[in-house]
Amino acid sequence: MVPVNAHFQAHFSICNENTMDVFHGFLHQELQGWFDPVLTSLKETQSSVCAEYNVSYKGRMAQFLGLCDRADQVTTLPISVNYRYPHYYSSLQGISSLYLMRLPVGLHESRSFALFFFKVRLPRWILKPLKPLLEVVIQRFVLNKFLAQDIEMIESEQRNYLANPQRRYVEINPAIIAIQRLIVQQYEQFMQESSQSAYRGNQDKKPISLSQVVSQEDLCEVIASGQAELTKENTIG
Ligand SMILES: [Fe+2]
Repeated sequence: MVPVNAHFQAHFSICNENTMDVFHGFLHQELQGWFDPVLTSLKETQSSVCAEYNVSYKGRMAQFLGLCDRADQVTTLPISVNYRYPHYYSSLQGISSLYLMRLPVGLHESRSFALFFFKVRLPRWILKPLKPLLEVVIQRFVLNKFLAQDIEMIESEQRNYLANPQRRYVEINPAIIAIQRLIVQQYEQFMQESSQSAYRGNQDKKPISLSQVVSQEDLCEVIASGQAELTKENTIG
């Protein structure tokens, strides 16, 4: 098990789109990350999104991590990515698992606390003394390098958004579109419940109506301020 913590100067929705987007393997090309992703299944509920992809691996790094038997051969594996606001669980069949807890902090700030589990192909008596060293090596020389590239891309997306909040772009990954749809649905639900509770509890305090919230900035603000309540309702487990 390898823990990895991260701090992003970006809204949690941008971070979470990145985590769901297995199509961004080219970003980690030089680190011998995955390639040729294929979305094979997508399931949505009112509180979760589950996507399944096939991804391919090749190279010495992939072999070291047990992702392929031979460095010179391509191995294709199924990976499932489960989103339940605002957290993730991801599993690469029989080889590794990731539990990623996301903490929305503010409009342009998020944190994550991740636990990676790897199945190392070594006898237990060899693995036990090596485990502390392996954890440091995998964290420092593998996972942190992937993370640094993700942070750079995510914060760049946040800056682009702030430079032009009205920008238009085409999203091609149906799993990302599902995440965006879920976040908006949860936001609308939160607003509806807030309006109702504000009306019941304090008629002097005028609630914000949905029609008043027209920009993503408004959406971000409300989601960030309401994250504690929604997290309580929807946290995994
Ligand atoms: Fe990445």
